[in-house]
Amino acid sequence: MGWIDGRVVTRRAWTESLVSLGIEAALPAFEPGQFVRLGLAVDGEIVGRPYSLVNAPGPGPLEVVFDVVPGGPLSPRLAALQPGDAVQVGSAAYGFMVLSEMPEGRDLWLIATGTGVGPFVSILESEAAWQRFENLRLVHGVRHASERVYRDRLLAIEARRGGRFRTLSFVSREACEDAQAGRIPAAIADGRLAASAGLALDPRHARLMLCGNPGLVRDAQAALAPAGFRRHRRREPGQILVEEYWSDD
Ligand SMILES: Cc1cc2nc3c(=O)[nH]c(=O)nc-3n(C[C@H](O)[C@H](O)[C@H](O)COP(=O)(O)OP(=O)(O)OC[C@H]3O[C@@H](n4cnc5c(N)ncnc54)[C@H](O)[C@@H]3O)c2cc1C
Ligand SMILES: NC(=O)c1ccc[n+]([C@@H]2O[C@H](COP(=O)([O-])OP(=O)(O)OC[C@H]3O[C@@H](n4cnc5c(N)ncnc54)[C@H](OP(=O)(O)O)[C@@H]3O)[C@@H](O)[C@H]2O)c1
Repeated sequence: MGWIDGRVVTRRAWTESLVSLGIEAALPAFEPGQFVRLGLAVDGEIVGRPYSLVNAPGPGPLEVVFDVVPGGPLSPRLAALQPGDAVQVGSAAYGFMVLSEMPEGRDLWLIATGTGVGPFVSILESEAAWQRFENLRLVHGVRHASERVYRDRLLAIEARRGGRFRTLSFVSREACEDAQAGRIPAAIADGRLAASAGLALDPRHARLMLCGNPGLVRDAQAALAPAGFRRHRRREPGQILVEEYWSDD
């Protein structure tokens, strides 16, 4: 896989360890939900890692949001970049957590922890999801309220799309008046998520994407299984597509 030249055009620090970058690069067409590799030269070799695209496909800059993993080979270096700095971008986007892989359905649930919300902004700011699904819900779990990245854009979509869309958040490590407490899988299991979303989680209608912490991906699937949900594979149709940002085994 080759690299193309990119240039940082915007930088936003949401917290000390949570950063968004806007990057100009001539990336070929991609599908919302996909990721690109970003790379920087370290001791003469390019260190590359995958990052989901936050922007909808179109002429503007690419956008990514990422955690700074202390001591990580790439993320602290990416976080130190400023507008004008160069960054390498993989020559194509990849990934199967995309609508073209999702079986037909009526309700689209996008469920993320942390920076896993990024690709869902891309999906919600593109038209395909609104053409294919009647009801859409975004569920975002974070430790602290300040980590609810892109909340302004999600609330703007809610205002624009009327009753078809709701954004819900879970804040696990501090009290927050416009969020629920705890973790998302527990709220799936005891029915709180469906009740607060105003929409049943019914495998005949619901299609889900799970993104971010591998624990969320595992535990949410376990909480959904008793109702008959299972992971979608091309040869074994189901209702759930996933993207894990790291591995916890
Ligand atoms: C398909 C895919 C898409 C991804 N998209 C994003 C994204 O949009 N935003 C993003 O922040 N990360 C994303 N990641 C993770 C990202 O690629 C890097 O692993 C991360 O930025 C850390 O890079 P690093 O080189 O500093 O450390 P690495 O050597 O890559 O990771 C060191 C350790 O840090 C932990 N870790 C990795 N990523 C995270 C994370 N995001 N949050 C917490 N702990 C982590 C893991 O335990 C990992 O073993 C994605 C990963 C995959 C596989
Ligand atoms: N956010 C910070 O303040 C902070 C500070 C220093 C370092 N970091 C590092 O940065 C990385 C990313 O931090 P993050 O806060 O975005 O990610 P995170 O650890 O994935 O937490 C995000 C949200 O996911 C929840 N979660 C964790 N495991 C889950 C599971 N099995 N099922 C469902 N939900 C689950 C967390 O709940 P719980 O709170 O219950 O775990 C939290 O609400 C982590 O590796 C962390 O070590 C973060």
